[in-house]
Amino acid sequence: MKETEKGIIKLNGKAETRELGLKIADALEPGDIVALMGQLGSGKTELTKAIAEGLGVKEKVISPTFTLVKLYESGRLPLAHFDVYRLDGSDELFDAGASDIIGGRYVSIIEWADIVADMLPSDALLVHLSYGEGEEERIAEII
Ligand SMILES: Nc1ncnc2c1ncn2[C@@H]1O[C@H](COP(=O)(O)OP(=O)(O)O)[C@@H](O)[C@H]1O
Ligand SMILES: [Mg+2]
Repeated sequence: MKETEKGIIKLNGKAETRELGLKIADALEPGDIVALMGQLGSGKTELTKAIAEGLGVKEKVISPTFTLVKLYESGRLPLAHFDVYRLDGSDELFDAGASDIIGGRYVSIIEWADIVADMLPSDALLVHLSYGEGEEERIAEII
């Protein structure tokens, strides 16, 4: 991954979340992992949609909560969007065959990545999202 914004960023409304996603997308290279953490509604899927847009994904991105992963091939880089909410740990991710995808030619975005934290490589981009003040503010802590 190329250098990208790090630290704590206030996201005032969805437009600023989109801007952050577009910037992250520009920095991505094949095999990169973006690990998204934060409670329901904190903006993980919104940020994923913006990263996908930035990669040039043409299909509509929808949350893969029930399918574990959705693959998108139409962008600058292929994108694998995981939602591991229903898993109990990284063993189940590997049982599902994810090691064929993660770290390969795909950029992997993982929602609820804290559940599979033990399999994340040290160079994964960690993004903790949380609620800010008011309904439209979110806070991103990027490590
Ligand atoms: N600044 C913001 N960034 C992202 N989403 C926001 C923001 N402000 C309000 N929202 C709303 O919060 C919700 C985020 O939902 P979603 O991205 O699905 O969260 P998660 O995937 O973390 O459960 C959406 O309904 C969105 O419209
Ligand atoms: Mg989500």
